[in-house]
Amino acid sequence: MIIANIADFREAARRRLPRFLFEYMDGGSYAEVTLRRNVDDLGDIALRQRVLRDMSSLDLTTELFGHRQSLPVALAPIGLAGLNARRGECQAVRAAGGADIPFTLSTVSACTLGEVATAARAPFWFQLYMIRDRGFMKDLLAQAVEAGCSALVFTVDMPVPGSRYRDYRTGLAGAPGMKGALWRFAQALLRPHWALDVGVLGRPHALGNVAPVLKGKTGIEDFFAWMRNNFDPSINWRDLDFIRSEWKGPLILKGILDPDDAKAAAETGADGIVVSNHGGRQLDGVPSTARALPAIADAVGDRLTILADGGVRSGLDVVRMLALGAKGVMLGRAWAYALAARGEAGVSQMLALIESEMRVAMTLTGVTQIAEINQDILVRKPF
Ligand SMILES: Cc1cc2nc3c(=O)[nH]c(=O)nc-3n(C[C@H](O)[C@H](O)[C@H](O)COP(=O)(O)O)c2cc1C
Repeated sequence: MIIANIADFREAARRRLPRFLFEYMDGGSYAEVTLRRNVDDLGDIALRQRVLRDMSSLDLTTELFGHRQSLPVALAPIGLAGLNARRGECQAVRAAGGADIPFTLSTVSACTLGEVATAARAPFWFQLYMIRDRGFMKDLLAQAVEAGCSALVFTVDMPVPGSRYRDYRTGLAGAPGMKGALWRFAQALLRPHWALDVGVLGRPHALGNVAPVLKGKTGIEDFFAWMRNNFDPSINWRDLDFIRSEWKGPLILKGILDPDDAKAAAETGADGIVVSNHGGRQLDGVPSTARALPAIADAVGDRLTILADGGVRSGLDVVRMLALGAKGVMLGRAWAYALAARGEAGVSQMLALIESEMRVAMTLTGVTQIAEINQDILVRKPF
């Protein structure tokens, strides 16, 4: 099919993936109110058109955490995205490296840190969850250091996982043992290309970094059971001392949605935050990130680097997030859809699309540099 935008990548992913995997990636928690708000609030922000300003030369480069990069974007951590295509995270890290932007490997990836480090063309970021087993966290952090990761994204908005109804309907959650496995197998049979590419040729490390703690269990339901039981609800600000003792590089807290938490992040010495509601997959009903971002930027924009994600589905949306106060933008489902649709080439194509859409948005709002993007390019103060 012809792919002209990220909505087309989504449709191609829907056709390519077994239903349980597509719905896992596409869905949000509970009634999916926040998931919809992320997309709608961002898309509703009106850009201010300016003309006749000689826009023949644009500079889209930006510096994040000491590295100059081609665009102010990074690929967000997406758990199990590696199942969207064969050894998927390795394909995505290559595409990100080729486009000169950071890739973030999730704790709960399909490929291991070592495998991704071997595939990578450039340093990548590692995302860590708070896990009950501190020894396992230490081990992962040591692997991230060994892999040369250039930043740590510590995700703080998952003390407990939100409930995602779609995963119950597809048998990914809640139908243990043979029943769930047979149900998913039937869905996989309806997607023979994926079944061969990932299910057969993509093995054996299907459960990546967490394989050692699963102790020989390889089922996807074993993996989800481990997630439910091992995410640590006691997570608190003092845990950052533990992280800091094991990780000396840039530290980014992901999942901040409130200015007071953002101030606390600045006070604990984080280098950056990601304004995020986990793509509407945690507490349904919280505000969209577009709505939360301006107050957070006012509170801490001069003290740490603010990244934002949630609902970004075009280069225009990237420019909108920058105008609301982000210094960089994380792309979530956008890259996961592209990977499912066309592998590494799909992620590269998606990033080229984002860049060309950003160029149009910058040209017609009259800004030639990323640093010039602020609320002046909006028709009115949005929230
Ligand atoms: C399928 C899926 C899996 C995710 N897994 C992780 C994860 O492992 N770690 C994490 O910090 N965030 C995870 N996220 C959240 C993303 O990093 C990001 O915050 C979110 O996707 C942004 O919203 P968007 O998809 O609308 O762009 C996941 C999101 C999705 C859709």
